[in-house]
Amino acid sequence: MRTSLFSRRTIRQGAVLAVGSAKIKLLLACCILFTLIALSGRTTSFMGWKQYAGSLPRSSLPRKGYTLLINTWKRNDLLKQSISHYASCPGLDSIHIVWSEPDPPSESLINFLNHVIKLNSKHHREIVLKFDINKEDSLNNRFKEIKDLKSDVVFSIDDDIIFPCTTVEFAFSVWQSAPDTMVGFVPRIHWIDKSNGNQDKYTYSGWWSVWWTGTYSMILSKAAFFHKKYLSMYTNEMPSSIREYVTKNRNCEDIAMSFLVANATGAPPIWVKGSIFEIGSTGISSLGGHHEKRTQCVNWFAAEYGRMPLVSTSVKAVDSRCSWFW
Ligand SMILES: *[C@@H]1O[C@H](CO)[C@@H](O)[C@H](O)[C@H]1NC(C)=O
Repeated sequence: MRTSLFSRRTIRQGAVLAVGSAKIKLLLACCILFTLIALSGRTTSFMGWKQYAGSLPRSSLPRKGYTLLINTWKRNDLLKQSISHYASCPGLDSIHIVWSEPDPPSESLINFLNHVIKLNSKHHREIVLKFDINKEDSLNNRFKEIKDLKSDVVFSIDDDIIFPCTTVEFAFSVWQSAPDTMVGFVPRIHWIDKSNGNQDKYTYSGWWSVWWTGTYSMILSKAAFFHKKYLSMYTNEMPSSIREYVTKNRNCEDIAMSFLVANATGAPPIWVKGSIFEIGSTGISSLGGHHEKRTQCVNWFAAEYGRMPLVSTSVKAVDSRCSWFW
C-alpha cells in the first residue's frame, strides 16, 4: 500500500516537473479546489462566511478617512460616474480633482458633482469637493502638494476605473498597517536586462509578466493609496530633472512616484487583490511604443538616482473574508 502511494506521488511530481511551471501547478490546484468547493457548498454556508463578507464592523472603521485624488482630462461623463460612485464609500473624507484643462470646470459640472456627492454620501457625512486648477498641462500636476488636507492618505485614481467600495476600504485598511508604503491594485515589474551582459540595464514589464511570475516592484498611481507626504516630496524634494523628464515625455509620472517611495522606504509596495471595472475606452497604455518608453523611463530614473531603488516582492494582500480556503 505504502509503496504504491509513494510511486503514485513520484509520478505526479514528475508530471508537474515536466510541465515545469509554478503557474500551471497553481491552475491545477485551483481546479481541485473548485471541485472541493462545489462538493462542500453546504459547509461554507454553515460557516456563514457570506454573512460577513463585504461589511466591516463599524468599530473597525477609522475616524480619519482618505482623500480621493482623481486625475481627469476632458472626460466629464467619466468624472461624473466615478465621483458619484466613490461618494458612497464610507471612509471617504474629501475629493480633489486634478484639473489641467485650459478652461476651468463649468458651473453646471460643479453643481452636478456637489449634488451627487450630497445624494450618495452615507449618513449625511460632509465630503469636501475641491478642484485643483492647473495652468500648465503637465503630468506632474497629479502629485502637487495639497495644503489643508483633512486625511493623511490619498487614494490616487484615474477617472476611468472604478472599484467597489468594499475593495477600496480593504486597501485602505492594508495601507493603515503600512502607512509609509504604496498600496494599490495595478502592479508592474522591472527586470534586469541581461541581453547584452550589462547589469545596469532594466526592462519594464506589464501585467502578463506580473501574472506569470507573481512578482512586482511598482504599484501604479492610477489606483493606489499613499501618504500625503509623498506629494510634497514629489514636488519639493525629488530632483527637478525627473519632473522635467515627465513633463517633456508626457509619461512615467507614476513610475517616478514608485521610485520616490521605494527610495524613501527601501521596501517594496503592496499589491491588493481587487476587481477593476474600466468605464472608459482607451488610455495611454494602449498606444504604440508604450513599453519602450516605459523602459526608457526606468533606466533614466535609475541613472538619476545613481542606483535602482525599486524592490521586488511577491506578497499579495487578499481579503480573507472573500477567500474560500483558509
Ligand atoms: C533617496 O533617499 C535618500 C535617503 O533618504 C536621500 O538622501 C536621497 O536624496 C534620495 N534620492 C533622491 C534622488 O531623491
